[in-house]
Amino acid sequence: MNDMSHFSTGISILEIAYVIASVLFIVGLRMLSHPLTARRGNIFAAFGMGLAIIATIVFHQKEGEPIRNIPLILAAISIGTVIGWLIAKRVKMTAMPQLVSFFNGMGGAAAALISIMEFPHISHELIAKSGMANGQVLAILLGLLIGTVSWAGSMIAFGKLDGWIGDMRVKAMKYVNLFILAVLIGLIVFIMTRNVQASAELTPYVYLIFGISVIYGVLFVMPIGGADMPVVISLLNSFTGVAAAMGGFLYNNQAMLTGGILVGSAGTILTILMCKAMNRSLLNVIVGVFGGGGQSSLDVAGSVKEISLTDAAVLLSYSKKVVIVPGYGLAVAQAQHICHELDKLLEEKGVEVKYAIHPVAGRMPGHMNVLLAEADVPYEQLIESDEINPDLPNTDVLVVIGANDVVNPAAEDDPSSPIYGMPIIKARDARNIIVMKRGMGKGYAAIENMLFFNSKTRMLFGDAKGTLQNLVNEVKHL
Ligand code: TAP
Repeated sequence: MNDMSHFSTGISILEIAYVIASVLFIVGLRMLSHPLTARRGNIFAAFGMGLAIIATIVFHQKEGEPIRNIPLILAAISIGTVIGWLIAKRVKMTAMPQLVSFFNGMGGAAAALISIMEFPHISHELIAKSGMANGQVLAILLGLLIGTVSWAGSMIAFGKLDGWIGDMRVKAMKYVNLFILAVLIGLIVFIMTRNVQASAELTPYVYLIFGISVIYGVLFVMPIGGADMPVVISLLNSFTGVAAAMGGFLYNNQAMLTGGILVGSAGTILTILMCKAMNRSLLNVIVGVFGGGGQSSLDVAGSVKEISLTDAAVLLSYSKKVVIVPGYGLAVAQAQHICHELDKLLEEKGVEVKYAIHPVAGRMPGHMNVLLAEADVPYEQLIESDEINPDLPNTDVLVVIGANDVVNPAAEDDPSSPIYGMPIIKARDARNIIVMKRGMGKGYAAIENMLFFNSKTRMLFGDAKGTLQNLVNEVKHL
């Protein structure tokens, strides 16, 4: 790698551009933490990335020479932009998690490609000075391992979220994955302790790391299923960030380093929060052994009771406290606007309405917050599940709209259930429960939900949007 960090002219402009880009990333990320500023935050960060890319193309120099292959770079950027733009334009809101997973995988692949490209070009001077045991070699190999695992794992996660890859559970998977991890670490140590003249002599081992990392990425995501996908998605996110940071370190590129560190650390924080939300251990996520697949041992007992629209409207209108639990079905039905209309109508009648937000409701982190913010539901009305749970015994009506796993009492009652241990919204504590869904379809974890058979529960069957529209009409006429 012939001194890729050396710039002769244009150094100050490039560095200033990178600092501005880094500041825009940080400010953008900060703004993402609130629904009201999130859209602008996204634009800020995208602007920072655009600035970093343009500044690199225009000002970056290697040994006093400007970047070559500009037409090729521009062609690649144009093709990527058109494809990305078309996909993002056409994707349905409900397919957004798959898209995020796919794009995340592309980031991992890019980081892995950097490593594969750069390994044979590690400078002879560096090897003569420190052998293969130096920071650059380590950054290249870690970037390769983590980027490849992120790419392969994200592709499997994409397939799972899209519904065409199922769970594959083998009992000894944990040990197989631990063994593969040990082999990968062993290979890195092996390369770094070799005594060679040129790094290119070790390139076959780099391809070996690539191949084994693909296998690891596939195997560690394959068994994860049921309700545990959110944890693995955020972990893969952080992997891509760390792999990109390795590239930033390698090229001494501050914008890439800052961007990578921000994605890596934000992803790690999210992973820890998700682990907490799901009551899972991080080590188990990394070796791919938890949740999913299992079958509940509880027998379905009792029958479901339905409620008419008129009765539901009366019950809601004459309540003091109503809590709405939104879930994936609300997003599928795109019923957030009409849902907000219902809550406004009820509030006009003096009913206090709150939304109970479960951290993994929907299919991506913060899904319900984004969905409800889009419908202008005030942020103060959204209450985290652990905060609202103690209030549920005093709640007159709890309305579940297209949610299932996040209110499933099996998480508390049934040790054999794949979601056992996951904190839930304790819907059954409410005085009355109305569940809106199309039929008796299961949730993401594909297990029965005894809440629907509870004596306090009444079902309001139908597509959430249509049902809510009819309910709004009924409430208006009361
Ligand atoms: P789910 O458990 O997936 O249940 C959604 C329910 O919505 C289904 O039972 C379905 O029943 C109903 N539904 C679907 N379309 C509908 C429509 N048009 N109108 C009305 N109802 C409709 O949802 P949840 O409670 O939000 O839980 C989320 C699950 O996804 C968790 O298991 C979570 O771990 C997992 N997951 C989450 C994420 C993130 S990061 N949030 C990522 C991946 C996986 P019918 O078919 O009977 O209508």
